[in-house]
Amino acid sequence: MRIIYKLEEMTETARGWLAGGAVGFVPTMGYLHQGHIALIEAARQECEISVVSIFVNQMQFDRHESFTQYPRNMARDLQLLNKAHVDVLFLPRAEEIYPPNFSTYVAPSGSVAERLEGVTSPAYIRGVSTIITKLFQLVRPDIVYFGQKDAQQVAVVRQLIRDLNIDVNLRVVPTVRESDGLAMSSQSHLLSPAERKAARIVYRALLAGKTLVEKHERRPSAIEKAMADLVATEPLVQLDYAAVCHPDTMNELDDVRPRCMLAIAARIGSIRLIDNFVWQEKGRWQM
Ligand code: PAF
Repeated sequence: MRIIYKLEEMTETARGWLAGGAVGFVPTMGYLHQGHIALIEAARQECEISVVSIFVNQMQFDRHESFTQYPRNMARDLQLLNKAHVDVLFLPRAEEIYPPNFSTYVAPSGSVAERLEGVTSPAYIRGVSTIITKLFQLVRPDIVYFGQKDAQQVAVVRQLIRDLNIDVNLRVVPTVRESDGLAMSSQSHLLSPAERKAARIVYRALLAGKTLVEKHERRPSAIEKAMADLVATEPLVQLDYAAVCHPDTMNELDDVRPRCMLAIAARIGSIRLIDNFVWQEKGRWQM
């Protein structure tokens, strides 16, 4: 695996991509888990060249402590990436990504940016949009891979690709779960055993929402309340939101119908957990 640190080297390398075939790109903040590996496998299956970036993007954190506490383990990440046969690892340095007097941001507007995460973590949408746009410029991938767990991130990136005419295809890979249903995330490793046990409530609440839909409950408020009430039974978990919305716009829905998303965000101490199920056409669930 080749490791690229300098932006100039990344740009030079990307200029030569055309000859090598399609480039599949997996942007990450490191502390890799099986969810990332699923994205890498999808990229390797579809593309001749696989590129992974690791950059803990301070701009997308609301609190400085969340950024400093974000888990990091480069030795382990390198092992996993080598084992996954990644071709290129892009490891830019913060000083180069955000040089002094950096002042140009990508700030989406509208419901996709302003609802859910836009309310609870305002820095997140602008931070993700800005870094992803920069990474697209530097890496110049043909296809980019994101996980369904971060559904609002997916919706924001889809909109920014469309609005800024970025020449990249977006693939969304299903959420990878632990055996008890918890969606894999870098942060969940920081939970204590008691907190880890409590975290299962998020998946259970989504299952409860799904069951209600399957029993023909069509009022979003009833499903939101049922999910919120279940999360509230777990004292270690604080709910940020339990929402029924459209998966592309994050807009509220008048009634529950296929192409609707059940989404939950909750906190356990300083660890944030997000997860979602999407009810698709023909009664299938993406979960
Ligand atoms: O999902 C993540 O790990 C981050 O939000 C991303 C997409 C790498 C941008 O920093």
